[in-house]
Amino acid sequence: MSVEITIEKTQNSRIDQFDPENIGFGKIFTDHMFLANWDGTTWTNPRIVPYGPLSLSPATSAIHYGQSIFEGMKAFINKKTGKPMLFRPRENAKRLNRSAERMVMPSVPEDLFMDGLKKLISIDSAWIPNTEGGSLYIRPFMFATDDFIGVKPSEHYIFAIFCCPVGPYYTKALKVKVEEEFSRAAPGGVGFTKCAGNYGGAMYPTLQAQKEGYDQVLWTDPLTHTLVEETGTTNLFAVFENEIVTPALGSTLLSGITRDSVIKGLTHLGHPVTERNLSVNELKEQLNAGTLKEIFITGTAATLIKIQGFGHQGTYFEVLDQGDSAVSDSIKNWLDAVRLGESEDVFEWNESV
Ligand SMILES: Cc1ncc(COP(=O)(O)O)c(C=O)c1O
Repeated sequence: MSVEITIEKTQNSRIDQFDPENIGFGKIFTDHMFLANWDGTTWTNPRIVPYGPLSLSPATSAIHYGQSIFEGMKAFINKKTGKPMLFRPRENAKRLNRSAERMVMPSVPEDLFMDGLKKLISIDSAWIPNTEGGSLYIRPFMFATDDFIGVKPSEHYIFAIFCCPVGPYYTKALKVKVEEEFSRAAPGGVGFTKCAGNYGGAMYPTLQAQKEGYDQVLWTDPLTHTLVEETGTTNLFAVFENEIVTPALGSTLLSGITRDSVIKGLTHLGHPVTERNLSVNELKEQLNAGTLKEIFITGTAATLIKIQGFGHQGTYFEVLDQGDSAVSDSIKNWLDAVRLGESEDVFEWNESV
């Protein structure tokens, strides 16, 4: 089934002012956006319109009570065909709906998600940077629009998608602080969703870590603060001499699509990954023993970034200079090549627009 989408193209394209060599991350928006409205029963009026401000009541429910969820995904220019390709977009559609269910929001049918997405990307495809490390970051999101004061699920919502041409999110290996005071999520809470509040709540601890000279927080389990979970917007992998480990999923961490791709890719390359509990003590013990080869983090925005070292209880532990980067280099190269169409798409992850 395909969805009937109305299209209003901009009369004032900004593409001429766009310099793909100088884009940073998240500051430039393409010419158009996709919108659809939930009227209490069904999704209505799917449309592509010029990118621009939305008009909202000050009582808009999402602003006060937090029914607001989002996704992050990317499109790349395929090096072989020159055509735009989406990377595993249906996984984002599924994850958006897992977030929606937990936040008592309507689910977005895959048809509506995919048709809106593909139409938008095909209209704005000239904005996809074809530069080294460049891609189109895509932000699907949904929020509650009832103008009503009182805590209850909204009856009306907007589902929207907009896009930003982006370069690399991080350009160097990161220093992370193992967080022992603050928690990002709690068992039974909303840590496994991409709801906006998870990110607002993480800003204060992240700022504290940055004041101490770290780039990011490395979250630990909220009950004992001894088990490593994830960073602000990425999942984590530790490469030991005889095992590659990533923290097992649960209600407190996000099931990253890059994490899943890295697990499948490493297994394909002959390096199976164990999903299990990973303690800070184990990281320290293996580092001391010389058997911690590297730590790296994965996410759509960040792609795959090495960890320089971590701080724990006031002591800094250098990882990168003592290890080697063979595993992260090989999986990063493999994943980049798959996404850009330079090597075989064995898992059929790329989807044309
Ligand atoms: C908290 C958190 N963990 C992990 C990730 C990585 O997920 P993905 O690889 O799907 O981008 C993200 C980014 O979406 C995130 O926000």
